[in-house]
This record gives sequence, structure tokens and C-alpha cells, in this order.
Amino acid sequence: MFRNSILRLSSSIQPYGTKSRLVTIVCQRSFYSTQNSGIEFKENSIQVNDTAYHRDDWTNVTPTVLSKLERKLHLQPRNPIGIIRQLIEDHFNDFATFNNVSPIVTTQQNFDDLLIPKDHPSRTKSDNYYFNKDTVLRAHTSAHQLQGLASGANKFLISGDVYRRDEIDSSHYPVFHQIEGLAYFGGQDEDQVAAIQADLEKAKPIPANIEIVDDTVIHAGNPKQDRHSQVVMTPLVAHLKHSINSMICHLFADEPNLKVRWIEAYFPFTSPSYEVEIFYQGEWLEVLGCGVVQQTLLDKGNRHDAVGWAFGMGLERLAMVLFGIPDIRLFWSQDNRFIDQFTPGQINKFQAFSKYPPCIKDISFWLPPTEWHDNNFCESIRGVAGDLVENVKVIDDFVHPKTNRRSLCYRIMYRSMDRNVTNDEINEIQEKVRSTVEQEFGVELREKK
Ligand code: DAH
Repeated sequence: MFRNSILRLSSSIQPYGTKSRLVTIVCQRSFYSTQNSGIEFKENSIQVNDTAYHRDDWTNVTPTVLSKLERKLHLQPRNPIGIIRQLIEDHFNDFATFNNVSPIVTTQQNFDDLLIPKDHPSRTKSDNYYFNKDTVLRAHTSAHQLQGLASGANKFLISGDVYRRDEIDSSHYPVFHQIEGLAYFGGQDEDQVAAIQADLEKAKPIPANIEIVDDTVIHAGNPKQDRHSQVVMTPLVAHLKHSINSMICHLFADEPNLKVRWIEAYFPFTSPSYEVEIFYQGEWLEVLGCGVVQQTLLDKGNRHDAVGWAFGMGLERLAMVLFGIPDIRLFWSQDNRFIDQFTPGQINKFQAFSKYPPCIKDISFWLPPTEWHDNNFCESIRGVAGDLVENVKVIDDFVHPKTNRRSLCYRIMYRSMDRNVTNDEINEIQEKVRSTVEQEFGVELREKK
């Protein structure tokens, strides 16, 4: 099944890197009112502070996900997400920083400005949280590239919370954090080359304990853009690669043997495009996407005369690796035993506090004739169980030989990060999950297990 981007935690395929996918629309409408900090679900609109977003067929934001808007983990100085964001900002010390931009953006910003085609798979309702067809919770910090350009800064970083509907396990959460970087050089070819070279001369060399594996070359499969000259592209790509490699070295400064690998990629908003992976404790981890900014994007930002590069990186995966954090929900924990372990500016290993026992429940049902999406099902469980749900997986998938109907059985693991849960309490939640799923998706529940 389709997994989310490298900038999430698990997968190999990036939503912005894929070219086609089935599109399914499942309408989900929830009526919900809350005293929660300026957020109100009304019959025809959703109110966030002073703004009302009208509902339409695209509306699928949920109260659970909106309750995260105010947390801004990347701005909390002692949260590992905040610590990494700060270390990156310190490293790129000549970049302007934007780290408090609202995550509610237009679909123009999230997709069109980035040249993402109208039928691109990353736009689907089952991957995003829409207020309505024109307004969405940003799915990546790239949504603000044009605003960054409009600021006038020729080098900038944008960090923030980003939102994607997804499955549930220890490394997926519907809200995560990214940092975006963009640098451009204006003027004639020779001015651009001179500015790039001047930066490269100032740059510190890559330390010897880091091995960089890079056999990427600019070629027809991952081409330079027609408007670009090779004379500028060679130093620009060298500048991009050096900037990224040295940021990784800065973050992994204490790592005795680090391997960094560059591979080719595809994004609608860059060409050539790359992904960067790190070999860490026996596996290659995808950590970021980057490339030479499409000239049409710079044109839209009124920087016709400039060439530039950009990158986007997820912070959770890096923080889990660097701080040894085993479960993504921990970043959201308000338990002092978590947050008290960390110090701004410092990367130290997390000491696990006792894990409370899980409570496991299965749910099985016959699917309705419409298309089925795990993400929507998981979203619905999160709506009922919140952070008590640790992991959801399919344990049986069966098609009846006579009727051809498909039946699925999911195993839901409930566990709290900071207390024991009781069987009675989880039974009650499971009952709610059963009735919600029945109503929302029209499944036919099978016997309880
Ligand atoms: N926005 C992309 C994603 O979330 C990542 C990315 C790739 C950002 C390339 C960039 C870039 O700025 O140049 O999958």
C-alpha cells in the first residue's frame, strides 16, 4: 500500500515524488463543539480563532488533529524536536528563519505554487486534512517557499508542524515537523558563480569520520533545467551538497562512523532532485529531499534572475534516531519524566521510563462495496481513542469465495504512555470504535473477539 514520504518515518515513496495513484473520495463529516482554544466545529463551518472556514465535500479535518495546532513542539526549547530545529538554525547561521507561520494554508500554496499537478496523488483526501476544497493543513513546509521568497531573504529556513493522514504505529503520527531551507543567488551567470564560490571557499571541510557516498550525476533522467547553464549548475549543486552534508555532520557530530548517501529522486518543484540517506545502526534511513528549484517557481516569486536550491526534512525521524526515542507519541507527552530529560542545545539519549502494559482488541468486519482506505479507518480510531492507540494492523484479510465480499480483521493495541489502562475503560473505547466505524464507513461488523 502507498506509504507516506521520506519525511515521515517509514517509507520509501514520497507523496511529492510520485506521479500517479488511485484517487478515492470518502466523505467524512463530524459535528463537534469544543471549548478548546478558539476551535469550534459548527454545522456549516469550522471556526479557528477569528476565521470561519466553510464546510464542503472536501472537509475532513478532525477535532483531534486541530487540537494539536497550538502545541508547536518545534518551538519548545526542551522538546527534542525544538532542540533539533534550533541546532539546524544555528548551523545555517546566515539564513533568515521563519518558524511561526500558520499551518492553515491554501491548496494553491500547498500544491499549485509548487507545480504539483492537479491530478497528483498527494492531493487526495485520504492523505490530507482539508477544511474545504481550497484550504488545507499544510502537508509540508514547502507550502511557504513563495512567502520565503517574498520576504526578500536570499537564504531562509522555514520550520513548522505539518499534517498528513496516515496509518498508526510507533513511527507514524498525523502531525509531525519539518524544516525547509532555500538559498538562491541572483545576477548574471558570472555573479551567481562568484557568490556560490565565495560561500564554498568559506565553508568548513567535511570531517574525516563521515563517508559520503555519492555517484549522482546530472543526466537526462534527472536533468538540469533548460534555462540553466552547466557553468552555474556545477557549483550550485556542489553548494547544495556541501550545505546538506555539513548540516548532517553538525547534527551527528558525536557519531564515530557516519555514512551519508545521495540518490536521485523526483519532485515537481526541483530538477535535478535528490534524496539523502544516512546509514545508522545497520540501516539506511531516508532523511531529506532536495534539489535545484524549478525556475518557474523562482519566477512566481519574482526572482527571475536567480538560481537556487531547496531541501525539506522531517524532524521526528532524526530526533528518534539522535535521542533514541522509541515511540513518536512521546514527543507529545506532557509527562515531566519525558521533557525533564532534555536540555536546549544538547543531544542526549532518552532513558525509557517504565512502559505500561498494552490492552489488545480485535475488530473484524465485512467491507462495504466502496473503496477502502486504511488511513481513513485509522483516522477514525484516533478520533475516538486519541493517543491511547499505539498501533493498528491488519491480521486477517479474507475474500468469501461465494459472495466475493472482503472481510478485514484489525488488531488495535491500546497503551498509555503515562499510566495503566483498565480493560473496562478500553472495552468502552472499543465499543465506540465499533459503532463509529459502522456508522462512518457502512461496514458490517462481525462477532466480537
Ligand atoms: N516537501 C517535500 C516532502 O515533504 C520534501 C522536499 C523535497 C522539500 C525537495 C524541498 C525539496 O524543498 O527541494 O516530501
